[in-house]
Amino acid sequence: MKNIKAIIFDAYGTLFDVNSAAEKCKDKIGNKWEGFANHWRTTQLEYTWLRSLMKRHKDFWQVTGDSLDKSMKVYSIDPSMRNELLDLYKILSPFKEVPDVLKILKEKKLKLAILSNGTPMLLNELVKSNNLDNLFDDIFSIEEVGIYKPDSKVYDMPIKKYKIEKKEVVFLSANTWDVSGGGNYGYTSIWVNRNKNIFDNLDFKPNNEIKDLSELIKLI
Ligand code: LAC
Repeated sequence: MKNIKAIIFDAYGTLFDVNSAAEKCKDKIGNKWEGFANHWRTTQLEYTWLRSLMKRHKDFWQVTGDSLDKSMKVYSIDPSMRNELLDLYKILSPFKEVPDVLKILKEKKLKLAILSNGTPMLLNELVKSNNLDNLFDDIFSIEEVGIYKPDSKVYDMPIKKYKIEKKEVVFLSANTWDVSGGGNYGYTSIWVNRNKNIFDNLDFKPNNEIKDLSELIKLI
């Protein structure tokens, strides 16, 4: 990968494990914790897309709570667990290789940033609680443009701020639809395929596929 000026990461599912909140409660939730966690995540994303299409924006924290409420009903989770799950969502764990890889990348002369649906407050708390603050040049939140990914206004933010070409950005996401969104916009895109998933059929294929972020070091 040549002429790269910025490495930009999606947050939820890419740097941070969205299932870790429910996993930390698996003693109380039981075997259904993983199905519940996947339902919560899928519903949360559907709400972001639907709200963008309906032009009824609510921030990611509200959407996360609204989707949790639905998933708790679907999976018959005790309502008393709501606050615990939401508190854990604020301090999701990073995937295990993430801190070391970010520290190596920080040494390179590249911009390092997050571009996420999360609110500025959520994202700042997330990096702080995992001692990852000071590693990023910027944390771009969709709240600045008031619409969710994959609207191109979102992917435009770093381009406008850094005054660089779209292809000079390496954008990494574990979410296939986000890789398609960023790649379709013009970023050099990398799909972080941690679970041997199948890519989307959205007229777009990523420039590279890696199984976790440690493989990124060889590519940059
Ligand atoms: C984000 C979601 C897509 O962090 O995971 O933007």
